[in-house]
Amino acid sequence: MGIDPWSTDLGLSLCSLVQDLTMTVLVAGGAGYIGSHFVRCLEEHGESAVVLDDLSTGFAEAIPDHVPLVRCAIGDRAAVRSVLEEVAPEAVVDFAGLIQVGESMRSPDRYYGVNVSQTIAFLDEIVRSGVKTFVFSSSAAVYGNPIRVPIDEDHPKEPINPYGATKLIVEMAARDYARAYGLRVACLRYFNAAGAHADGTLAERHDPETHLIPLAIDAGLGRRPELTVFGDDWSTPDGTCVRDYIHVMDLAEAHWLAIEKLRNDTPTLSLNLGTGNGYSVRQIIDAVSDVLGKAVPYHIGPRRDGDPPSLVASSNRARNVLGWNPTRSQLDTIVQDAVRSRT
Ligand SMILES: NC(=O)c1ccc[n+]([C@@H]2O[C@H](COP(=O)([O-])OP(=O)(O)OC[C@H]3O[C@@H](n4cnc5c(N)ncnc54)[C@H](O)[C@@H]3O)[C@@H](O)[C@H]2O)c1
Repeated sequence: MGIDPWSTDLGLSLCSLVQDLTMTVLVAGGAGYIGSHFVRCLEEHGESAVVLDDLSTGFAEAIPDHVPLVRCAIGDRAAVRSVLEEVAPEAVVDFAGLIQVGESMRSPDRYYGVNVSQTIAFLDEIVRSGVKTFVFSSSAAVYGNPIRVPIDEDHPKEPINPYGATKLIVEMAARDYARAYGLRVACLRYFNAAGAHADGTLAERHDPETHLIPLAIDAGLGRRPELTVFGDDWSTPDGTCVRDYIHVMDLAEAHWLAIEKLRNDTPTLSLNLGTGNGYSVRQIIDAVSDVLGKAVPYHIGPRRDGDPPSLVASSNRARNVLGWNPTRSQLDTIVQDAVRSRT
């Protein structure tokens, strides 16, 4: 007599086994630009997400309806504690925080308050809950002005703005927590996140938008006044700042790989996420013009406080340690995906 495994006791246990194999990740800041792409990446890997976000700069509609959204700040200890108890996530990935370098120069109190005080409170609750795996959104801003390019992970860390300082402080705290409490920690230092999911349903969305590619697209489409380029007298080949642009889905994939690595008992990881290719502001403007088929209007303004002239990653460590292989980070793919998401 044949057995239909899905209508018997055996079937039920197979079903629960399949559910048990699915990992749940708590994604703080999951309603933001990079976090929402990571939620998509998790789903594409067949895993589950729960998003914790205060929606201060994020958007509920960036999260699929079936993904639970808990609206609270990472510094709200009581709320965070009950979420961690209820969800019992396998890992926590923390994208939550304030992200504008210029604003951090004018209002360092806000940056230390959210990016440091709230994040340390969050870390305390994570440790207390028994979660063992923590992935943190760090930044190339921890390095300050590079003394060598490409920048490897052992490059001196001397941030030149409060934003970068807050990231470095949390990295140091997380490493100390790893040593003392057995937390497994990956600090992922992003260079410039860019692009969007290829299906065009998610977009880079900051308010105010300060990132070059969306600004250039919107200026080219006539949705905003001409672009301001912050200085053309830097010590770079064409005088404008050089940055390393990494596709947001490649970035998301690295987080997934980092969780897998940490689950295999690797205690701490500090990894650059970039491509090793630098593009100047002028090169980006040209690339956006090419994809749009129209000129991007711009003018040259003064330099902006806190900007290093050139930030380009060595990402060999992430490639070797994680087996990470960015596949969408060619400049034309990044710009095409970004344009698709905005039109
Ligand atoms: N975008 C980049 O190029 C870039 C580069 C380097 C590092 N990073 C880091 O990556 C992370 C995500 O950046 P993004 O571009 O997606 O920014 P974003 O502003 O789009 O996303 C941040 C999310 O965190 C939420 N948030 C902010 N403060 C919070 C708090 N106290 N509690 C709970 N939620 C809070 C916001 O509502 C938002 O949804 C940030 O930590 C940022 O510093 C970004």
